[in-house]
Amino acid sequence: MERIYLDYAATTPTHPEVVEAMLPYFCDAFGNPSSLYSYGLEARKAIELARMKVAQAIGAKNEEIVFTGGGSEADNFAIKGVAYANVRKGNHIITDIIEHHAVLETCRFLEKRGFKVTYLPVDKYGLVDPEKVREAITEKTILISIMHANNEIGTIQPIDEISKIAHKAKVYFHTDAVQTTGHIPVNVNELKVDMLSMSAHKFYGPKGVGVLYIRKGTKIVPLIHGGEQESGRRAGTENVPGIVGMGKAIELAGLEMTKEAERLTVLRDKLIKGILEKIDKVELNGHPEQRLPNNVNFSVDYIEGESTCLNLDLEGICISTGSACSSSSS
Ligand SMILES: Cc1ncc(COP(=O)(O)O)c(C=O)c1O
Repeated sequence: MERIYLDYAATTPTHPEVVEAMLPYFCDAFGNPSSLYSYGLEARKAIELARMKVAQAIGAKNEEIVFTGGGSEADNFAIKGVAYANVRKGNHIITDIIEHHAVLETCRFLEKRGFKVTYLPVDKYGLVDPEKVREAITEKTILISIMHANNEIGTIQPIDEISKIAHKAKVYFHTDAVQTTGHIPVNVNELKVDMLSMSAHKFYGPKGVGVLYIRKGTKIVPLIHGGEQESGRRAGTENVPGIVGMGKAIELAGLEMTKEAERLTVLRDKLIKGILEKIDKVELNGHPEQRLPNNVNFSVDYIEGESTCLNLDLEGICISTGSACSSSSS
């Protein structure tokens, strides 16, 4: 049976060219990037090339890119790192109720340790109102974290408007761009963010590798202590093949992005129109236009999501009833 995979928000297959780029770093160029001899230098060079590719793709400087073990770690690093580095200034964080668990659970963790968190509501399209962000800021606010696009309903937030408000109030601004990087333009200067999280496996790169972009001058403490890797911001021997794969994946995504986004937008709108016309009692979730090109999300009255998912799987179609991260299977 031919299988149709429609859950690219959960993960993507690794691009064959990405696999090819990674392969030499398992058995041949396997050196520890911290070693001073040639094996080490070879690995170090590969990491720095990948760092440059990521930096170029998002308009950052090379030294503002910190490789992590994925999007969840990048979110944890941004939020805990800024919270603990700026605790003398204040203890208040602003986020919203539809963030990924990596943000929400990190905020809950901090709440148990003396921080105060405001969880902003969203409107019927899943949009955060920038005015509500402005109203929530107090003299104790140190960080605002609002995702670039939602992983379930695909709504794209007005990040540049919110970041302007944050900067005016001299509050750090972080965005989780795990679902947007590699799919729509992400530029840290246009978005005016201080920190931005990404994850390679969402754009045809390998799993278990991500990046936290940290704007120069941001006061942040590391999450993982130990060696001096990543300029002392993330200890641990680097995942060289993963990092190389992420560099290659972001490079390929940049080449294809405009054409691919146009192609997917046409397909997305065709699927939305077809489902709305042909099936009763369905409602589109998320914003009709301000949404990811690769996202379609519906509520269906009287039908239980999990059984629909399992029944469609029997037909060879993979869909999701929500974030993969909130189901017990992952
Ligand atoms: C919006 C968002 N943030 C963070 C993550 C976590 O990324 P990772 O799977 O690399 O830890 C995901 C993954 O589903 C996501 O969709």
